[in-house]
Amino acid sequence: MDAIECLKTRRSVREYLDTPVPKEIIEDIVDCGRLAASAINIQPWVFIAVTDPAVRKKIADICDHGKFIEQSPVCIVVFCLDGKYYLEDGSAATQNMLNAARAHGLGSCWVAGDKKEYAPKIAELLGVPSDYKLVSHIAVGYPAQVPSPAKKTLSEVLRWEHF
Ligand SMILES: Cc1cc2nc3c(=O)[nH]c(=O)nc-3n(C[C@H](O)[C@H](O)[C@H](O)COP(=O)(O)O)c2cc1C
Repeated sequence: MDAIECLKTRRSVREYLDTPVPKEIIEDIVDCGRLAASAINIQPWVFIAVTDPAVRKKIADICDHGKFIEQSPVCIVVFCLDGKYYLEDGSAATQNMLNAARAHGLGSCWVAGDKKEYAPKIAELLGVPSDYKLVSHIAVGYPAQVPSPAKKTLSEVLRWEHF
């Protein structure tokens, strides 16, 4: 699949098959995350790939809109060292990984982390130092079902030269 098709066909997947995801593919997805754009090239991120079903269940129980993390074979949790651009950097890395998952024929879904009251619980569960901020969790796995959410059209959102 070429890059443009990959970007245009990625959708958030919330139902997964039991099929495990090979370790090399998880590593390649994270490799795409760590190559994201980063303000002043600080690259403040750490990516925690969680495959242990018991830990994924705990994450799923903590996140109010991430119950499917229990079902997805992998959850990549994105933390960034606190700083001016931690959220932009962590979000750029997250989106890269969503697209990389799609390119590997996998489904994924961004589950909120930043600004969530449960963020300290996730950090404690995963042994993350207090100077890191939770940005996102990414459920990853082979899709059982791919939704088609409504999308704004190009003409609704593209303006030329002025608002
Ligand atoms: C910052 C952010 C937080 C999100 N948090 C959640 C979440 O907690 N649970 C969830 O199921 N989806 C979450 N999503 C996924 C959105 O619901 C999804 O991207 C949106 O509905 C558009 O669908 P699409 O990704 O298939 O294009 C989040 C997306 C973003 C960008």
